[in-house]
Amino acid sequence: MTETQTDTLAGQGTLSAELMRMIHGYRISQIVAALAQLGIPDELADRRRSSDELATATDADPDALARLLRAAATIGLLDEHQQDFFTLTKLGALLRTDVPGSLRDAAIAIAGPGQYRPWERLLDAVRSGRSPAAAALGRDLWDYYRDHPEEGNRFVRTMSWVSNSGLDELLASYDTSAFRRIVDVGGAGGELIAAILTRNGDASGVLFELPAVIERARGSSLVQQLDGRVELIVGDFLDEVPDGGDLYLLKQILLNWDDEHAQRILRNCHCAAPPRSKLLVIEWLLPSQPQLSGVHLLNLNMLVMLGGKQRSAEEYRGLLEATGYRVEQTILTGASAYPWSIIEATRV
Ligand SMILES: C[S@@+](CC[C@H](N)C(=O)[O-])C[C@H]1O[C@@H](n2cnc3c(N)ncnc32)[C@H](O)[C@@H]1O
Repeated sequence: MTETQTDTLAGQGTLSAELMRMIHGYRISQIVAALAQLGIPDELADRRRSSDELATATDADPDALARLLRAAATIGLLDEHQQDFFTLTKLGALLRTDVPGSLRDAAIAIAGPGQYRPWERLLDAVRSGRSPAAAALGRDLWDYYRDHPEEGNRFVRTMSWVSNSGLDELLASYDTSAFRRIVDVGGAGGELIAAILTRNGDASGVLFELPAVIERARGSSLVQQLDGRVELIVGDFLDEVPDGGDLYLLKQILLNWDDEHAQRILRNCHCAAPPRSKLLVIEWLLPSQPQLSGVHLLNLNMLVMLGGKQRSAEEYRGLLEATGYRVEQTILTGASAYPWSIIEATRV
């Protein structure tokens, strides 16, 4: 064999290994989810334990659990010491319940049926251009989560994690001190409105959400700490939006919808908002030019899960101008892998 042929084979070996890692991707996410769901990272929080001890503590089959633990060690979540004793790695520790920025809920929710079943039908989505979620789940995603509250709660907590990431940069990039009534449309657990009201003591806020989400928010310490400064309003933003705000927030809302529904939401905001009030669309933006970006992966997720789409700054400008808004500025709020962009618009 010539030197070039050997190089080619070695190169192919590396490429094959890389491709095989991608091919195995869904198995890896199921391993991470199972480890989290069994609570193994919590069991290993402060000491090493044997696989038999862990099987007893988590009510699992000893041989099967030992296989899971070794698979988890192979992907870097655990270390195996001697025969059958395991500890957490730094990576695995992020799956503990009690660590700041825990990814336990995300690991379970994203590998769970609500997300996984629609993704099984990616090909249908690409062929039809429509979301296969309703066919896969028997109802749309939000109704599915309403009917599966434990999974729904995990998803909301995952959204809270997403919401909290980059929040400081986001708040530092836009001054909200002049506003008095701030309406967070589809504000999930209230992380954004709570953070704004904490910084702006003169403002009151509205958290506008679906019934199940408001029910959860009512009991949350985040909302209770605000001492009545945030009003919780149940509703459907496809029908109407609370009126009288001088600032409206749409963070990670329009991406969930096709252009027709996105315009409907914006028109409802326009209808509720006084002239010259502001609206902030807060999203991850698609690059305007061909460029590698994680937002392209999220764009596919929107197609599969909700029939929505990520958009570029120009596409958002088009939606806003068509619904009675003037775009004032677009602010990129950070330099991380997924920095939020704020598109500030004035209701005309
Ligand atoms: C992707 S999450 C974004 C949540 C939050 N704004 C954030 O940035 O974390 C979309 C939110 O829209 C809410 N939602 C979906 N459909 C809705 C509707 N028709 N009316 C009101 N809220 C809705 C969901 O409950 C969910 O919390």
